[in-house]
Amino acid sequence: MKRTLIVGNWKMNLNTQQASVLVHRLNKHIEEHRDIEVVLAPSLLTLQPISLQIDRRKFRLAAQDAFYVDEGAYTGEVSFTMLRGLVHYALVGHSERRIHLGETLEVVRDKVQAAIRNGISPILCVGETKQERAAGETKRVIHDQLTTALANLTPEEVEEVVIAYEPVWAITSFGGDRPAKPDEIQSAIRWIRHIIGELYGEKLATELRVIYGASVDAEFVEGILSLEGVDGLLPGTASLNYHKFADIVAAAHRTLQKAGQNG
Ligand code: 13P
Repeated sequence: MKRTLIVGNWKMNLNTQQASVLVHRLNKHIEEHRDIEVVLAPSLLTLQPISLQIDRRKFRLAAQDAFYVDEGAYTGEVSFTMLRGLVHYALVGHSERRIHLGETLEVVRDKVQAAIRNGISPILCVGETKQERAAGETKRVIHDQLTTALANLTPEEVEEVVIAYEPVWAITSFGGDRPAKPDEIQSAIRWIRHIIGELYGEKLATELRVIYGASVDAEFVEGILSLEGVDGLLPGTASLNYHKFADIVAAAHRTLQKAGQNG
């Protein structure tokens, strides 16, 4: 059984003390569900203390980024090697890094490979900007992001990857105020699985976990998770509020229960 993945991306928010307060509340307010895997992605600074504080039955950790070389003279960077054992996952190629920090397709590819090399599952973020969508380039952009990022992996390694479809225009930090529409999410996720199918075969295309992120709030959870082939959610803004994040997890659980009863 695939567990539904819910990843809270805290982005560059919360100092060590604020992060500790949030974790304290999340430990209290989020329940453990067998069918859901809840992952927290705090800043690199707070990963270590949070790893000691989280209820490990309820939460796993993700890094928001790391560098693609394992060790050496790269002042200011933290490598995937250093994160081994501390995190299960790492976001790679988030649009904020591609757009604000100049991360190229090749850098994203090298980071995906470095994560895998270090036993960390990359959550590869892909998605088009508003301009790209308006120009009818959504499919091409997703195709390019996906195929370059996975280029150096074996099929066994691709199994470890999670793909996050995050349409840039729907992300709060880029001016989005609601998620993409269900048909837009559905068609992008079908396209992602189609590309994986062409490259690695139908089995992997079905089994690979593909999640959605951008303006996710509890009210949208059922609509999104009920779509075929959507295996989870990646909320940003809502994950900083323990009520909202706990509501998202609870709504996901209800949706899965309902789906289980219906079929
Ligand atoms: P928001 O939920 O704030 O739109 O952020 C989505 C996101 O970028 C998660 O990685």
